Amino acid sequence: MNDLVSLRFGLATRREFLFAALSAGVYALTGGSALADAAIKKPIPKTGELLPVIGLGTWQTFDVGAGKAARDPLRQVLSEFVRLGGRVVDSSPMYGKSEGVAGDLAAELGVQKQLFFATKVWISGRDAGVRQMDESFERLRTQRMDLMQVHNLVDYRVHLSTLRRWKEEGKVHYIGVTHYTASAHDELARVLAGEDLDFVQINYSLGERDAEKRLLPVAADRRIAVLINRPLGAGGLFTKVRGKPLPAWANEVGCASWAQFFLKFVISHPAVTCAIPATSKTAHLIDNMQAGVGSLPSAAVRKQMADYFAAL
Ligand SMILES: NC(=O)c1ccc[n+]([C@@H]2O[C@H](COP(=O)([O-])OP(=O)(O)OC[C@H]3O[C@@H](n4cnc5c(N)ncnc54)[C@H](OP(=O)(O)O)[C@@H]3O)[C@@H](O)[C@H]2O)c1
Repeated sequence: MNDLVSLRFGLATRREFLFAALSAGVYALTGGSALADAAIKKPIPKTGELLPVIGLGTWQTFDVGAGKAARDPLRQVLSEFVRLGGRVVDSSPMYGKSEGVAGDLAAELGVQKQLFFATKVWISGRDAGVRQMDESFERLRTQRMDLMQVHNLVDYRVHLSTLRRWKEEGKVHYIGVTHYTASAHDELARVLAGEDLDFVQINYSLGERDAEKRLLPVAADRRIAVLINRPLGAGGLFTKVRGKPLPAWANEVGCASWAQFFLKFVISHPAVTCAIPATSKTAHLIDNMQAGVGSLPSAAVRKQMADYFAAL
């Protein structure tokens, strides 16, 4: 039994090592800064500010304690993210210690100014919302939040009225709403149509394409920037392709891994501004960031990607 476990562990470690070495090779060849220079950017429709198309989520991955063993890998993830040209870091008071960890690590690395912090309010009531958002400013160690979003539409009318005032005062730069499930898309579409928003954050991936029907067109029509959560299906997309090779044509469309295949599909939707995959591993971060360079698949190639994935 022990031998089996250690054999499995050994294989996983070797595979991870090979993958990391491969990524490191590409990385060394291009040099981190070359990758940063080549990062694809899309404009926030209301202002024209450009954002790199690959961001970083923090749900679960950054919810760790203060210990060195837990924080060192995340410090490296964040450091490489910035070095490779990343800016958008998404968090929430719902994610346990994640906001505080992201804030601490950004301060230690001295990269706060390079980052675009997106966090959320996730509570009912005006005063409770103000208190919670003020705590987020402290945890992320900033006086001005780049983007404050109403998490899962919780008490959104109340919080949006606070956020509009804060936007006028310059306390927040952009405001938005989020959700993570297709069952909320109809309500989200109504909110997008009725409220003056800068951003919406929604679930979209090769495994969850519902947003294409209504929400992404509404966002484009209303000139609302779109962040994509669960772009890797919370990791579930990898289960579907386990042991299956990439199609031969993947390389021609700039995808050297399944992660890049999944992410290029998401960021190439014309209404999508930025995908925010989460990872706790530097090798995965480097892999993901490579989806954000080169060219983006055309509509025809997107269809080919979706058909291929659906047939697996
Ligand atoms: N309601 C909301 O507002 C809402 C809801 C859901 C999510 N979000 C936001 O969106 C972010 C992203 O969504 P998510 O975290 O649910 O899911 P996701 O980004 O689709 O997937 C994350 C998972 O994929 C794995 N992964 C990442 N890169 C990989 C790679 N290159 N190769 C293999 N595995 C890889 C990660 O594990 P490793 O650590 O092993 O890499 C992790 O388990 C969240 O972190 C959060 O910030 C917001």
